[in-house]
Amino acid sequence: MKFPVDSFKGIETPFYYYDVELLENTIATVRNEAARYGNFDVHYAIKANFNPRLLEIIAKAGLGADCVSGGEVAAALKAGVPASKIVFAGVGKTDKEIAQALDAGIFCFNAESVPELEAIEALAAERGVVAQVALRINPNVGAHTHSNITTGLAENKFGINYELLDEVIDIIEGMEHISLVGMHFHIGSQILVMDDFIALCGRINELQELLFETRGLVLPHINVGGGLGVRYDAPDRYPVPDFDLYFATYANNLKLYPGQRVHFELGRSIVAQCGGLVTRVTYVKHGGCKQFVIVDAGMNDLIRPALYDAYHRIENLTSSKPDEVYDVVGPVCESSDVFCRDRKIPATERGDILVMRTAGAYGEAMAFGYNCRALPKAVLSTDIL
Ligand code: LLP
Repeated sequence: MKFPVDSFKGIETPFYYYDVELLENTIATVRNEAARYGNFDVHYAIKANFNPRLLEIIAKAGLGADCVSGGEVAAALKAGVPASKIVFAGVGKTDKEIAQALDAGIFCFNAESVPELEAIEALAAERGVVAQVALRINPNVGAHTHSNITTGLAENKFGINYELLDEVIDIIEGMEHISLVGMHFHIGSQILVMDDFIALCGRINELQELLFETRGLVLPHINVGGGLGVRYDAPDRYPVPDFDLYFATYANNLKLYPGQRVHFELGRSIVAQCGGLVTRVTYVKHGGCKQFVIVDAGMNDLIRPALYDAYHRIENLTSSKPDEVYDVVGPVCESSDVFCRDRKIPATERGDILVMRTAGAYGEAMAFGYNCRALPKAVLSTDIL
């Protein structure tokens, strides 16, 4: 990915810069790799980045959408994703959100509890419709990732405990306005160790066998969630994630019954590498034992380092001097407003332009207005090139 720093002159910083060509290449790769199997459907997890212009590109390319709020369902529809390709997960769907999704006629709710099933049943009955539902199962499978973004352990709030599956299906059998069409899983995010997905496949295989043996039941849709990680350490060497290996892992380890389809909810792997947060150096300050590069982006623009201790490569686009060691920090009144500590980057001075790489996912989407700061703007490569 190239950052056309000359074209950045005159654009107020900080802003997210998105390389549309890389996004399109990534989408084409994910689509082609999934298409090799004939029964794999990819839904883009909107939570990773809901910038409307990116959503339109993604919708136009034909991906479905994975949503976790009424707002995301509305954003998906507005961007042109057909309702028949929208899935809706989340532990706390409100009546208003459920009603909105029923009225839109979405493909499937990923239901996470019995009380939620009861709410869907009641609202679908009021409307005289039948809601398609997949049960989100908590598989109690761990993932090699940060503890804040692990979701598939029994201690996490997500899903229905896998040991209760049978009981919950009994309850659904008494519901006239719910059609059980699948099972849904998601073990976590930023996963680069394929063994984690293999462990998930093992659990799914077990549950499928149980349903078949005890009830003769084969559900048509298996949704394995998202979670494929990206290489934050080497964005230029790995601009497009290894979707080939990812899909092959599922194809080789998931035991399917004839006619079953597999659904994926990929967020980060689709948008992370095409985005960077561009920021200007306001001051360089020499402290007692540290040198601080103070930039005009803050934790409100990109919260991942403060929240997850996440690593983002930081490049100075306007200096090629020998490296020095800095803490790169933002202007927000919080000690955790730090992008990196003791990092080597080329000697930096006031006015330099830096970029935080691999920020297309969970960057702009998680920005907020603390300290009365404006939300970061977005510039697409097609705006300036
Ligand atoms: N499906 C479900 C049910 C999810 O909860 C998530 C992400 C995804 C799909 C998409 O996962 P992905 O393919 O993007 O890994 N803010 C954190 C990540 C939170 C992920 C939440 N759930 C971060 O910045 O690392």
